[in-house]
Amino acid sequence: MIIKKIAIFGGTGFVGQSLCNRLSKDGYKLKVPTRNREYNKEDLILLPNLELIETDIHNSENLKNLLTDCDAVINLIGILNEKGNDGKGFKKVHIKLIKNLISACEIHGIHRIVQISALNADAKNGKSFYLKTKGEAEKLLCSNSTGIKTTIFRPSVIFGKKDSFFNRFAKLLKISPLFFPLACYKTKFAPVYVHDVVEMMANSIEDPDSYNKSYQLCGPKTYSLKDLVSYTAKTLDLKCTIIPLNNVLSRIQAKVFDFLPGKPFSTDNYLSAQTDSICECNDLFRYNIKPTAIEDIVPQYLSDYEYHSFYSKFHNDS
Ligand SMILES: NC(=O)c1ccc[n+]([C@@H]2O[C@H](COP(=O)([O-])OP(=O)(O)OC[C@H]3O[C@@H](n4cnc5c(N)ncnc54)[C@H](OP(=O)(O)O)[C@@H]3O)[C@@H](O)[C@H]2O)c1
Repeated sequence: MIIKKIAIFGGTGFVGQSLCNRLSKDGYKLKVPTRNREYNKEDLILLPNLELIETDIHNSENLKNLLTDCDAVINLIGILNEKGNDGKGFKKVHIKLIKNLISACEIHGIHRIVQISALNADAKNGKSFYLKTKGEAEKLLCSNSTGIKTTIFRPSVIFGKKDSFFNRFAKLLKISPLFFPLACYKTKFAPVYVHDVVEMMANSIEDPDSYNKSYQLCGPKTYSLKDLVSYTAKTLDLKCTIIPLNNVLSRIQAKVFDFLPGKPFSTDNYLSAQTDSICECNDLFRYNIKPTAIEDIVPQYLSDYEYHSFYSKFHNDS
């Protein structure tokens, strides 16, 4: 299979931007759809061979037009929360989009789709809408009867300069004066570095050995959520005491946060966090990738975070 041009759905996001950088260096032509070109152009338009296109990909005609002249599709679109609480938002973004993508690939004779899913994604037994719908998307891709070769990546939480995990906890810890109530504190994660994830994806895109496989991606160590939040506080030199919430209080916190703008934590997140996000077998080794530890990377960007918050405070005060 010869791949020259790749459509990258979710190319404007945290993982997507790193992936676009890498694939552009590798010489691929890239097409990246976005809902808001103006907002997202800064980080991507300087990349050679990348077209950033504002379009509504939920419209199947637009999707079909977008894939004209592409040889492969990488889908990184995913949401952790929806507007309502009935699963419709998750179904639209994680399932309906995949159905339309498979049909559009069929029309254009595209035989390669790479998808980022999540550990514990499971159409039948997934505990949250997030995990169920991610699992349903995997099922659709794996059972496609169109001869499309798929590769599915299932990472634990991903860290890197623009992540929404350490940066989010850093932000929340900074505004919590003395105590930080933490839900689901026992849940285990094995954070994986964004560059390791991208390296894995770049290596697999044209590798027939990766066809119709599903890979679990983890970092070198496992931590509880409490360990990770304590580590964030320590790195930022914050003296905040973390108060672990039991299961009942975790659920109540999630129910209350469901109504906050931007849902910093939701009932669906609470349900996802009922299962540890760790690998049975870390597949990074398949491409000889040595997993990077959080301790080697996170302090660098959390100190940038300190600097930027100081700068914006100074800027707002003046
Ligand atoms: N980050 C993690 O820790 C982690 C862990 C496990 C799995 N994953 C999975 O990895 C993938 C990438 O994650 P990420 O952290 O890079 O995500 P992200 O930064 O939130 O980016 C998500 C992308 O999806 C697009 N998008 C979001 N909602 C959309 C909607 N309703 N319709 C169309 N496009 C939409 C956005 O594009 P525009 O705004 O430009 O339209 C954005 O480029 C996701 O599938 C996620 O579930 C992530």
